[in-house]
Amino acid sequence: MKKIFVVGNWKCNPVSFKRAKRLFVLLNKGIQKNRKVEVVVCPPFVYLQTYEGKSNFSIGAQNCFWKKKGLFTGEISTSMLKNLKCKYVIIGHSERRKWLKEKDDIINKKIKACLKRGLTPILCIDKISQLKSGLNGIVNKSRVIIAYEPISAIGTGKAFSFSKAKKINLKIKKFLGNRQVILYGGSVNQNNVVGFIKESGFQGVLVGTASLEVKDFTQIINRVKNLI
Ligand code: PGA
Repeated sequence: MKKIFVVGNWKCNPVSFKRAKRLFVLLNKGIQKNRKVEVVVCPPFVYLQTYEGKSNFSIGAQNCFWKKKGLFTGEISTSMLKNLKCKYVIIGHSERRKWLKEKDDIINKKIKACLKRGLTPILCIDKISQLKSGLNGIVNKSRVIIAYEPISAIGTGKAFSFSKAKKINLKIKKFLGNRQVILYGGSVNQNNVVGFIKESGFQGVLVGTASLEVKDFTQIINRVKNLI
C-alpha cells in the first residue's frame, strides 16, 4: 500500500504562543512515527519554530512568497521556510483565494518556487479547471500533492459524500495520472476519514478544524494506521 498523508492545517489558530506550544507537545506525544503514514502539521508562520524538539511529524507552512528575498514587505520566502525545516507548503487554499484574492497565476509562481527550493507544494483546488492553470509549465507534476477541497465542505461539518468525492478523484487522476498524490479536505473527522481513503480512493486527507484537537487528530491518524 502507498504511503498515506494526514495533513493538519491550523489556519489562523491558536491565538497564543503558549497554546501553540502545548498543542505541538501534546501532538508529539500522541503521534508515533510510522513509515506508511506521513503526518504533516501546518501552523501559522509565527509558530513554525515553536516546536524545537524532535517531532514525530513533518512541518509545513500555509503559504509562501515566490521570490527568495528582497523588497517584499510582509512576505515569507520559500528559502526561509526551507531553513526552518519545513517540508511542505499549502498553496492556493480556498480561503486565500477568497479573502486575499489569490489567483492561479500567483499560485503557479508559488508552486514553482516551492519545487525549486525542494519543498513539496500541496495545491488546493475546488474545481478541476484550477489544475491546469495552477500547474501550468510544471514538467514533473507528480512532485505536487493535490488537495481536493469542495468549498461547501470546508469548516461546515458537512463533508462531501464518498461517492461524489470519488468521482472527482477519478477525474483528477484522468488528468494527472494514477501516480499523483491526491488528498481530500473538507470536514474530515475520525468517523469519515476511512471512507475517504477506502471508498473514495484518496491517498490521504487535509484536516482543518479537527487538527486543532489533539484527541480528534490522533484518532484520525490511528484510523489511518489501522488501514495499513
Ligand atoms: P475543515 O478544513 O477540516 O475544518 O473543513 C479543511 C481545510 O480547509 O483545509
